[in-house]
Amino acid sequence: MFETLTPKPADSILKLIGEHQSDTRAEKVDLGVGVYRDATGNTPILRAVKKAEQWLVDKQTSKSYLGSRGDAVFCDAIQRMVFGDAAGSDGRIATIQTPGGSGALRVAAELALRSNPDVTTWVSDPTWSNHTPLLGETGIRLRAYPYYDSGSRSIDFGAMLDALGEAEQGDLILLHGCCHNPTGMDLSVEQWQQVADLVQKRKLIPFIDLAYQGFAHGIEEDAYGVRLMYERVPEMMVTHSCSKNFGLYRDRVGAMLLVARDEETAQTVDSQAQFVVRTMYSLPPDHGAAVVSRILHDAKLRADWLTELDAIRQRLKGMRSALVAALQEAAPDHDFSHILRTTGMFAYLGVSTEQVERLIKDRGVYLPGSSRINVCGITPGNVRYLADSIASVL
Ligand SMILES: Cc1ncc(COP(=O)(O)O)c(C=O)c1O
Repeated sequence: MFETLTPKPADSILKLIGEHQSDTRAEKVDLGVGVYRDATGNTPILRAVKKAEQWLVDKQTSKSYLGSRGDAVFCDAIQRMVFGDAAGSDGRIATIQTPGGSGALRVAAELALRSNPDVTTWVSDPTWSNHTPLLGETGIRLRAYPYYDSGSRSIDFGAMLDALGEAEQGDLILLHGCCHNPTGMDLSVEQWQQVADLVQKRKLIPFIDLAYQGFAHGIEEDAYGVRLMYERVPEMMVTHSCSKNFGLYRDRVGAMLLVARDEETAQTVDSQAQFVVRTMYSLPPDHGAAVVSRILHDAKLRADWLTELDAIRQRLKGMRSALVAALQEAAPDHDFSHILRTTGMFAYLGVSTEQVERLIKDRGVYLPGSSRINVCGITPGNVRYLADSIASVL
């Protein structure tokens, strides 16, 4: 039967990582990778995670099955982190634990299709490279709304609103909660409010992907858009990932949070979500979620984790500033100040595909053709070389 299959091309980022690894130049720089790395190039296990893991080794007494919803204590902690402590007392929110943010996105799309097979999901152009395949493979209809204007290097907000003005009642609007991947450009408070007005007026359904909570400004600040929508609309879907903010990438920890009109509907939605999970992967993995749950319920561990998260944010901010300052010196006729307006791990450098090719070939600076950089690839030791390399191809 397998002879009917044809090979799938390798993911372009994985190809780039492979090319970087086999490059023998000592000064090579990897700006393509999609995970957080510290100044030594390592993706660390957070202190709080190590301590929580040790606690689990000592105290956990069973590895028996969890239900399809996952662990209720974990779900409650994530729900509070996303919506705040006050939310949820009306019973309108149903939260389930998922294998990462990707698992949550897939379950959310399956669920949306079960309730409305004709639903359209609007995704930003550009968006995270896996959004379209991950959601689209469910059969859900996707449409793009403009998001980024490469000329002004800012959000094309007018065009975004115009496009969303064409959305029909009940359509899903996929928004990045913070740290937009790949542009790094987030909606301002005023822009979130305007989107909320539009969504409310046209009876659209916000579908917010919160994959970097804590990476932009802080846990509370980064939930602004989600919480605003919760106050304004009767129904919404949120997907959350603990891959970045807890550094638990391979342990697959995430959650799907659904807001329904009332408690009774939330219970129905919850039972449907559990059915979808049961027929896809039965139940989520436990270990990483148990670690997150322990950290969020232990005051000392939680405080330590928040300190670590703060250090990550400071490093990202510091490296952005250092790169822009070095570019000002190396290429004084060019303006890269838009990078200072980006948050999280990513930003578009704003150079052409041909210039990217030269950066890779002549200087060993690896990034995708779109010129998306992962700021974590910048270190105090390579920032000058990087700025000189960029200047050399302008
Ligand atoms: C915007 C966005 N959403 C979702 C995810 C998926 O994260 P996870 O690894 O938790 O599945 C990512 C991962 O890079 C992402 O960038």
